[in-house]
Amino acid sequence: MSHANLIRFALFFTTISFLVSWLTYRLLRRRLGLTPVGNRRMLAFFMASAGLMTLGPFLYRWLEAPAGSLPDLVLQWTQFSLLGWIGSVFIVFLFVEVIQSASKRFDPQKRIFLTEGVGRTLLAGTTLTSVAGFFEATSGAEVVQVPVTLERLPQAFEGLKIVQLSDVHVGPLIHKGYLDRVVDQALAEKPDLIVITGDLVDGSVNQLRDQIAPLGRLKAPEGIYFCTGNHEYYSGVHDWVAHLGTLGITVLGNSNRVLRRPGKNDEERILLAGVYDHQAARFEPAHATDPVQAASCAEDVACKILLAHNPFSIEGACKSGFDLQLSGHTHAGQFYPYSFIVKLVLKYSEGLYRVNEKTQLYVNRGTGFWGPPNRFGKRSEITSITLNRRITG
Ligand SMILES: [Fe+2]
Repeated sequence: MSHANLIRFALFFTTISFLVSWLTYRLLRRRLGLTPVGNRRMLAFFMASAGLMTLGPFLYRWLEAPAGSLPDLVLQWTQFSLLGWIGSVFIVFLFVEVIQSASKRFDPQKRIFLTEGVGRTLLAGTTLTSVAGFFEATSGAEVVQVPVTLERLPQAFEGLKIVQLSDVHVGPLIHKGYLDRVVDQALAEKPDLIVITGDLVDGSVNQLRDQIAPLGRLKAPEGIYFCTGNHEYYSGVHDWVAHLGTLGITVLGNSNRVLRRPGKNDEERILLAGVYDHQAARFEPAHATDPVQAASCAEDVACKILLAHNPFSIEGACKSGFDLQLSGHTHAGQFYPYSFIVKLVLKYSEGLYRVNEKTQLYVNRGTGFWGPPNRFGKRSEITSITLNRRITG
């Protein structure tokens, strides 16, 4: 990340941390009916939490603290857990405010009951979901089987198995132990092809060289391919592109490879392409996403698959004639209550979509997690996709 972007990120993150912490304190103060001393202690707790939430990224991102050292681990797990809990409490109590102010039905007596009784129950419930979400996040990813029908798939590629990893976010909290398990699960699927659709890392190559090493064990006959996500651009994208090459991973940046298999008469071919992230041009103009270039190929191919981190790339994928786009990015909201919001706001948040007659989109909900170690209701995912031709008659 450039110096100017670092400063912008620091100011933004510090402002948001203190603002959300202070607003959460204000919302709780109205609801919990604590004594003045209790309120002062609560304010001190939230301001100290905001300070930690600023200090953690500062040490990790700007001073490049080595990932995995014990003091850094304690700091990062504490600050990201607080971030998740405060973010959840903030949304839940903001929702209560909106509901109550929209309703005229509560008389002042009932309002006192609602204020304290419901407030404490909601706080306890939200805390419990954060604890449950912590265990879901740290218990690793589940393998999700997804059959996809592509009517233009050549016979020779019938049953092609693609394992998709996305948004692993190896970084302050996700290390080689987690990644080792992911690699074992991916290999157990016996994939023909492995794809990684961006947001693989949070941190520099120097910080994460050891943590990322398990990816070197990935093996698949048709190869291992990667497209960049937005987080690669915060982490030194050029260093990462070079480093992934040393691990046997091919980066597809507005480019493609033809996969070939002998057919009944002739060789049969499909195109596997990848674009740079939808937002890449903001950080690296040479990486402006270009699905047309990604699709261009002198050979005849029967069908085309695109790796694109952000589901927003689907518009370009449709125009460029892709049959299937594989994406991530959304994390499906990652945990309650954000999972509800993301489902409401985003057209494509998780799962398989038929976008039009030709093009389908699959959105992986993230193989790791980002920020808060919380996956309540949205467990991390390794996708095992099996391609089939349409069965007719
Ligand atoms: Fe991500």
